[in-house]
Amino acid sequence: MLTTTYVERRQRLETYFDRTASDTWAQLTSTAPVSKIRATVRAGRDQMREILVSWLPGSLASKRILDAGCGTGALAVIAAHRGANVVAVDVAASLVSVAGERAPIDPAPGTIEFRVGDMLDPAHGAYDHIVAMDSLIHYPRDEIMTALSSLTARCRGSIVFTFAPKTPLLTLMHTVGLLFPRSDRAPAIEPVSEAFLRKSVASDPRMAGWKIGRTTRVVSGFYTSQAMELVRS
Ligand SMILES: C[S@@+](CC[C@H](N)C(=O)[O-])C[C@H]1O[C@@H](n2cnc3c(N)ncnc32)[C@H](O)[C@@H]1O
Repeated sequence: MLTTTYVERRQRLETYFDRTASDTWAQLTSTAPVSKIRATVRAGRDQMREILVSWLPGSLASKRILDAGCGTGALAVIAAHRGANVVAVDVAASLVSVAGERAPIDPAPGTIEFRVGDMLDPAHGAYDHIVAMDSLIHYPRDEIMTALSSLTARCRGSIVFTFAPKTPLLTLMHTVGLLFPRSDRAPAIEPVSEAFLRKSVASDPRMAGWKIGRTTRVVSGFYTSQAMELVRS
C-alpha cells in the first residue's frame, strides 16, 4: 500500500524530472558537452549502469525486465539489445518521450515498451528481473523498503537497485545540494545506510524469501551511489 509520504515524494519528483530539470537530465544522459562537475556524474552513472547490467544473467533472451524509473531509457536499450523484453516506466512523461526518441525503432533481439506511470503500479505485471537505477534515492528509507517489497512481489528472479549510501560527507553534500544550481535543484537525496538495508531485508516479513546479494559503491566526483542486488534466499 502506497503511503502519503511516498505519493507526495513521487509528485515532487514528477514535477522536478518532468518539468524543472527535464532538459538538464536529457543533456546529462546524452553525449552533449557538460560541465566538468556533471561530467564526473555522467562517468559515474555510466559505470553504475554497466555494473547493474552485468549483474543480470548473461543471456536475457525472452526475459521480462522492468526498468523502474527509466528516465531517458539508456539501461532499457542495453537490456533489449541483450534480448530482454523490457517495460520501461517513469513518472516523468517528458523523459519517457526523450527515451522513446532515443531508443532504436527495432531494439532487436529484444523489445522495449515505454510507459508513463508509477513504477510500483501492479498493473505493470510480473518480471524475471527488475532494475531501479537511482530511482529510489529520493525516497526516505522506510519508503525504499516499501518500494522494494512491492517490487519483490512481482519479481521471479533478482532486483538490482541503487541507494545513496549514508556517510557524513555525503549527507552534507546532499543537504547542501552541490550538483545543480539552486534554480533546478532536485528534491533532497535521502542517504540510507547499508546496515539499515541489511537489517531490514533480514527482518522485514515483507522481504521473506529474499536476501541481499552483491553490493558495490561507485564514487566519481560528485556522483556517489551504491548498487545492491536482491536475490532469492
Ligand atoms: C535520477 S533519475 C534516474 C533515471 C534512470 N534510471 C537513469 O539512471 O538514467 C530518477 C528517475 O526516477 C523516476 N521516478 C522516481 N520515482 C518514480 C516512481 N514512483 N515511478 C516512476 N518513476 C519514478 C524519476 O522521474 C526519474 O526519471
